Amino acid sequence: MSFKGFFITGTDTEVGKTLVAGAIILKLQSMGIKTIGFKPVVAGMRQIDGNMVNEDVETLLMVSREISPNLIASDICPYFLKDPAAPHIVALQYGLELSLHKMMAHYDRLAEKSDAVIVEGAGGFLVPINEELTLGDFAQQLNLPVILVIDIKLGCINHALLTAEAITRRGLVLHGWVANSTQLDLTYTSENLNTLRNILKKQFNADFLGHIPHISEISTNGIYTIEILTITTSYFQLYV
Ligand SMILES: Nc1ncnc2c1ncn2[C@@H]1O[C@H](COP(=O)(O)OP(=O)(O)OP(=O)(O)O)[C@@H](O)[C@H]1O
Ligand SMILES: [Mg+2]
Repeated sequence: MSFKGFFITGTDTEVGKTLVAGAIILKLQSMGIKTIGFKPVVAGMRQIDGNMVNEDVETLLMVSREISPNLIASDICPYFLKDPAAPHIVALQYGLELSLHKMMAHYDRLAEKSDAVIVEGAGGFLVPINEELTLGDFAQQLNLPVILVIDIKLGCINHALLTAEAITRRGLVLHGWVANSTQLDLTYTSENLNTLRNILKKQFNADFLGHIPHISEISTNGIYTIEILTITTSYFQLYV
């Protein structure tokens, strides 16, 4: 099978990449594809039940364990940075340099253990790894088809087009995009969706996969439940 997974990026940080990545992993698993999540770097750890954890990794680990129960957090993420800030800045504070090579090696190990890996970027598409490289370069090396998560709010069309341009300039396929309403009651939601749908298809050949409405049951602690992720799967389609 040539399908190896997706790279999930977003128009910004906090737009719903983890929600979509978790739901995609569940959806692929339900199609019989052994799928694991991967996060190249996290910045921001919290203490939960006496352990320092990152919410994204906890969510991706929880769904990945549905098919690989022995996975641990460090299997799916090579860099855990404590402070919630731009990863390369936090890394430097701790005397660390982020390495694209290390991210790739870590990803390769996971890819060997699974049919597909869903890679969630950190922040937006061009978050720096250092002063020369960005996570866009990591995505380019992975060469996975990209899914763009767009938080439907004022300014999202511009952010979506900038991101789509950066993705396709790197020779990557923008497989599709998912609209996510992190906020309630945005005016002109359907007009925004129509515009995005038309432009992203015409200019980037990217398909609209679906719209996740505002889900009030999502807890604000940042870790998604299997129930929420399962509900989320019903709002978008996926073809591989
Ligand atoms: N459809 C939704 N309905 C309600 N709240 C949502 C929805 N999608 C996301 N959220 C809220 O927005 C926050 C950010 O979502 P999420 O963590 O999935 O974004 P992200 O893009 O992965 O962020 P990061 O850049 O930190 O990785 C979540 O904590 C959640 O509370
Ligand atoms: Mg996330």
